[in-house]
Amino acid sequence: MTNGFAPDLFADKRVVVTGAGRGIGAAVARAFLACGATVVAHAGRTDEYVSRDLTPGLASDRTARLTILTGDLARPGSGQKLAADILSGGERVDVLVNNAGTMVGRIMAADVTDEEYSRVLDLDIRSVVALTTALLPALKVAKDGAIVNTSSISARAGGSAGSSLYSGAKGFLSSWTRSLAREVAPDGIRVNAVSPGTIMTDFHRRYSSEEKLRATAEAIPLKRLGTAEDCAGAYLFLASNALAAYVTGQVIEVNGGQLMP
Ligand SMILES: NC(=O)c1ccc[n+]([C@@H]2O[C@H](COP(=O)([O-])OP(=O)(O)OC[C@H]3O[C@@H](n4cnc5c(N)ncnc54)[C@H](OP(=O)(O)O)[C@@H]3O)[C@@H](O)[C@H]2O)c1
Repeated sequence: MTNGFAPDLFADKRVVVTGAGRGIGAAVARAFLACGATVVAHAGRTDEYVSRDLTPGLASDRTARLTILTGDLARPGSGQKLAADILSGGERVDVLVNNAGTMVGRIMAADVTDEEYSRVLDLDIRSVVALTTALLPALKVAKDGAIVNTSSISARAGGSAGSSLYSGAKGFLSSWTRSLAREVAPDGIRVNAVSPGTIMTDFHRRYSSEEKLRATAEAIPLKRLGTAEDCAGAYLFLASNALAAYVTGQVIEVNGGQLMP
């Protein structure tokens, strides 16, 4: 699919993608590379999945434009640490894609403890806010910077059992996207979000049974689960000033019609 993208859309642009070692983030990073970007890919806690999802078949001109970093974003100070690593490679960031995140586990609302609250929200909210805040000056340097956050269908639909902290965190990201968009617009920075539906990545291999996924696919108007590649185009669109210069504060749903406003 990445071969279908405009090869120069992000030429000379420096793009940061978190959680890019696998799944949606890997597909997004590959799509930016296909469009000529220089990509700083935060792979995840390790680079274990990079050779499976991010780099297979990448031509040498694309790997030459790819830098891979790692870091556990659930740890205190991790957003700031990752920002420092990114800035040590250059003081300008044209596009920041906040994608790293997960449900952490299915935790029933009645069983939520302070510790679990922190485990989910430190990763899905705190690190995103910290990384973004630390990179705002670099996005300002870009003059027409763009931030694309990753929300979820569960932000609006509530998610399935055991996802209250995660769904709440994604709801935060959707609202925060709008607030931030208003605040940083004078700096020429646009802020939007992609809200994936049920996308077949390791996320659902971990948290959903095959039976549940079959039933979900059957109920989706397009009659299938999404793929990581299905999401990539929305990120490119929102990040591109050629395509979306007048789009800010929006959350785009990519879900095969699973949820319609
Ligand atoms: N799949 C879906 O149906 C779906 C739907 C809506 C929203 N989303 C969102 O889309 C984003 C990508 O999810 P995905 O489906 O691609 O899942 P995935 O395949 O599990 O990938 C998640 C990415 O986030 C990283 N990550 C998780 N915990 C981390 C931590 N503590 N520190 C640093 N990095 C961490 C992972 O790195 P590791 O390799 O270290 O785990 C991985 O790179 C997430 O924000 C997710 O909430 C997914």
